[in-house]
Amino acid sequence: MLACHANLFPHFPVADCRHHRKGLDGAVRRVLDGGQFVLGQEVQEFETEFAHYLNAGATLGVASGTDAIELMLRALDIGPGDKVVVPALTADASAAGVRRAGAEVLLADIDAATFTLCPQSLAALLSSSAGAGVKSVLVVHLYGQVADWAALQQVAAAHSVILLEDASQAHGARWCGRMAGTLGHAAAFSFYPTKNLGALGDAGAVVTNDEVLAERVRRLRQYGWRERYVSEETGINSRLDELHAAVLRVKLRTLDEHTSRRRALAVFYTKQLLIHGVVKPPIVRPECEPAWHQYVVRSAEREALQQHLAASGIPSAVHYPRALHQQTAYAHCQTMPLPVAEQAAREILSLPLHPYLSDEASEVLCQTVNSFSSRTNDATP
Ligand SMILES: Cc1ncc(COP(=O)(O)O)c(C=O)c1O
Repeated sequence: MLACHANLFPHFPVADCRHHRKGLDGAVRRVLDGGQFVLGQEVQEFETEFAHYLNAGATLGVASGTDAIELMLRALDIGPGDKVVVPALTADASAAGVRRAGAEVLLADIDAATFTLCPQSLAALLSSSAGAGVKSVLVVHLYGQVADWAALQQVAAAHSVILLEDASQAHGARWCGRMAGTLGHAAAFSFYPTKNLGALGDAGAVVTNDEVLAERVRRLRQYGWRERYVSEETGINSRLDELHAAVLRVKLRTLDEHTSRRRALAVFYTKQLLIHGVVKPPIVRPECEPAWHQYVVRSAEREALQQHLAASGIPSAVHYPRALHQQTAYAHCQTMPLPVAEQAAREILSLPLHPYLSDEASEVLCQTVNSFSSRTNDATP
């Protein structure tokens, strides 16, 4: 009879709210007492604090990460008739934001080691006939690992395309000491509740050092208003609520501490998992300090491993079971073979990792993964 360890693995957003409960109660009270519910003082304070945290010029709070992608593209006049490259393995939302801006999505393959956009694949795409007319590349720091920025910059410069970041999974990650979200011309963040910095519902932000771009996003997020009731251009309603901003301000204070805990857990997992070699642990580039939004391993027996973990009450998940071109909505975005993303989609498994996991939980997790090894080895004649 297997032990059930479910109580050692709380769901991150629930544990996060429990941990911050006192501060969140105060934040909700402040919003109720303040009497302003959308784009008010809390939003302004959060925008200042998040920009300061990142060492960025400006943060513009919007209603979701998908909106942030759409708005930063629209603010750069990237839309109908333009093409934007997106990695083939990412959240659908990365591509959905580009489509919402009206631009065409083209897919490039990922790097087998880090799951982020492969610079060689990007170069091949941009040099091909399909790549003509590409204006921008949306670089996704998937699972909290910063993509190979130096190599991507070289490719982008050679082809005169703008690098933008989807930092929705990379709050607090760094590349050569610089924060993810400040590397490209602009970045989109999501604050969906499961993110490392999460609100109580949908929320997002555009981050940039470009003042003109910031001003344009500020207009576009609210009907294109130059001033109240005076629209300069057609915008949308994508405002950040006061409640979410107040909550984000509370959680931002512990983001670094929580990222450190994620990093310590990741180091421990990798060390333990390498001993038995049942799964391939994630590989980190020396320039990158990941945010560890997900700790993703590879296994040729992913489904069996997942069942083995579930039998002990250990949750796991697949982010994502299909590459973008393997989904009806984005099948037409493929112009070249994307074998690395396809193989990853077959093998990846996200193991539980967040700051509310105890040392005991981390030991149980690694032992349980490693015991799958002995099970399969035992079965080998
Ligand atoms: C990589 C990535 N991009 C974009 C998004 C979109 O964010 P949201 O769900 O806030 O629209 C997400 C969140 O799911 C994401 O993980």
